[in-house]
Amino acid sequence: MRAIVAESPDQLVWQEVPDASAGPGEVLIKVTAAGVNRADVLQAAGKYPPPPGASDIIGMEVSGVISEIGAELGSGVAEWSVGQEVCALLAGGGYAEYVAVPAHQVLPIPDGIGLEDAAGLPEVACTVWSNLVLTAHLDKGQLLLMHGGASGIGTHAIQVARALGARVAVTAGSEEKLQTCRDLGAEITINYRDDDFVARLQEYGGADVILDIMGASYLDRNLDALATDGQLVIIGMQGGLKGELNIGKLLPKRLRVIGTTLRGRPVSGPNSKGEIVAAVTESVWPMIADGRVRPFIGARMPIQQAGQAHQKLVAGDVHGKIVLTV
Ligand SMILES: NC(=O)c1ccc[n+]([C@@H]2O[C@H](COP(=O)([O-])OP(=O)(O)OC[C@H]3O[C@@H](n4cnc5c(N)ncnc54)[C@H](OP(=O)(O)O)[C@@H]3O)[C@@H](O)[C@H]2O)c1
Repeated sequence: MRAIVAESPDQLVWQEVPDASAGPGEVLIKVTAAGVNRADVLQAAGKYPPPPGASDIIGMEVSGVISEIGAELGSGVAEWSVGQEVCALLAGGGYAEYVAVPAHQVLPIPDGIGLEDAAGLPEVACTVWSNLVLTAHLDKGQLLLMHGGASGIGTHAIQVARALGARVAVTAGSEEKLQTCRDLGAEITINYRDDDFVARLQEYGGADVILDIMGASYLDRNLDALATDGQLVIIGMQGGLKGELNIGKLLPKRLRVIGTTLRGRPVSGPNSKGEIVAAVTESVWPMIADGRVRPFIGARMPIQQAGQAHQKLVAGDVHGKIVLTV
């Protein structure tokens, strides 16, 4: 089969690699499209190694057709069959013609969604649902601050939060991106380059939940932007790994600071990828089927152009997701 091999961060080459096959508990997917994530860019640069046992080929989500079913799928997994169209959350291996994936991480294609577009859903849907709902219990009437509102994660989070009846504030770096966020339902839009998100959030009594992709550089200001009993959920470290946590700001407002990652979770069991995939299939797929949430695909490119796709993501030259077609 062919797959993308990262010869260097800028040299992503579509070439022959050993065939993938379905091991015990896995299905093999013939890939139609692969979603691009910031983690893929980091992995190509050697800064985000795959978890133990995962493929060293880049790519954390795909859509496609099941071509083989491995032995011992076990209980508690949906019934999959050869020829079925699906999408999947991966620990790696997605930028390829075929990928083997634990059956627990396979999802059906939501009703009404094209097979290519579905490649841009598993990572954002699982990240957003696990953090906003399973972790922070975002509720109707609460205020969410989403940093990077026009990102892949942000465009999905805005829609899910609105579908839950929450209000949404976002930050982004340009008027065009803020307009995208407004179109998706964001009410408070803040250009982080020339506006102070803390002051803007304080006008509204503070955020109940912040979904943060910046980490260190926003840590202190995020605490100031939270309402009493607010929760800061950190999922990215684009602004650095180490910040100073002012505990004096936590106690009076009873704040919680939480960090999570999706990729390194176990396949099944408590707090696993399998548990999240099941919750997303049950709760988010109906929101997509009835049109409350849509995949937001900003660009489609052939997989041979994976390198250009990564450059586009790093340059901030895309709203929503990029999908690579195979
Ligand atoms: N922990 C997890 O399990 C998990 C899972 C998935 C994703 N993530 C993380 O979530 C983040 C988004 O992922 P993605 O794939 O959606 O990436 P993406 O589409 O490349 O988005 C990155 C975003 O960062 C925004 N940004 C840059 N500087 C900013 C600043 N100072 N303030 C606010 N926003 C800023 C950019 O917005 P502008 O262009 O407007 O500047 C851009 O929209 C990444 O950090 C990724 O690592 C974590």
